[in-house]
Amino acid sequence: MSEPGVESVRIEWEPARDANRENWDERVALHVEAYGLGDFDDPEHLSAVVRADAASLAPFLPQGFDGIDLCHLQCHIGTDTLSFARLGANVTGVDFSGPALDAAAALATRLGLDADWVETDVLDAAAAVGTQFDVVYTSIGTITWLNDLDRWAAQIAQLLRPGGTFYIRDGHPVLYAIDETRDEPVLRYPYFERREAQAWNDSGTYIGDGTVTNSRTYEWSHPISAVVNALLGAGLRIVRMSEDRVLPWRFSPRMIETEEGFVWPEAERDLVPCTFTIVATKN
Ligand SMILES: C[S@@+](CC[C@H](N)C(=O)[O-])C[C@H]1O[C@@H](n2cnc3c(N)ncnc32)[C@H](O)[C@@H]1O
Repeated sequence: MSEPGVESVRIEWEPARDANRENWDERVALHVEAYGLGDFDDPEHLSAVVRADAASLAPFLPQGFDGIDLCHLQCHIGTDTLSFARLGANVTGVDFSGPALDAAAALATRLGLDADWVETDVLDAAAAVGTQFDVVYTSIGTITWLNDLDRWAAQIAQLLRPGGTFYIRDGHPVLYAIDETRDEPVLRYPYFERREAQAWNDSGTYIGDGTVTNSRTYEWSHPISAVVNALLGAGLRIVRMSEDRVLPWRFSPRMIETEEGFVWPEAERDLVPCTFTIVATKN
């Protein structure tokens, strides 16, 4: 498949990952400006993502967040990680971007919050982090950057203590199959997994107007069945799955901003899922 700005390419994991890291490193300065970090000066403030996810996670954590050990995979500049710290969790943020973790550590210092930060490819996270957690959490813009969900799920299983809980909320693969530039919902990108990566040439990012020079990135499509089977294959037990109509970022210019996030125009809201959520436990 070849589309303007997007091509299907065969590429090994390491060069693809390294290109993605260069892109993410450059986005950090833009996101430090655009993510509204000043809002965190209010000691009660939590990121909108964690406000929603803490409510979905709570029924599975009868002990609450206070004092639990939580590992946040692909934590970016730490706004969600530190929101969990504000709920009382002992947090460890994991990301492959050194500049992202520097920004996260600076935010933690400014807010007087404790956190550990581990710089590693998430596909090597278990060995790099080296301890186990009550909760492993990842959300919003994660697995599309990974080529191997079995290896990803194996890291999660190793990072969890027996009895621990895994939580993911991310963009729905049906949403990712849609052409975000069209005036109606039209399928354009693969839903099913392919060995090839989708190579994007895009100097923009999903928030703010800034641009990056390392604009080539590689992403992979993962159907829901691949996510579920990877987690089951790693020995986890899926205890809840849901699909939702609200997205925390503007996927398409046609999306409407509401208090909860971005949604499709009303007539289309039941046509396409925006996110999926899975909660799984380790015996
Ligand atoms: C869209 S952000 C997700 C974070 C969160 N939703 C947020 O907005 O703060 C994606 C993150 O994944 C990280 N990332 C991408 N590929 C990775 C990999 N192979 N290993 C570790 N981190 C990775 C990027 O550095 C980035 O911080």
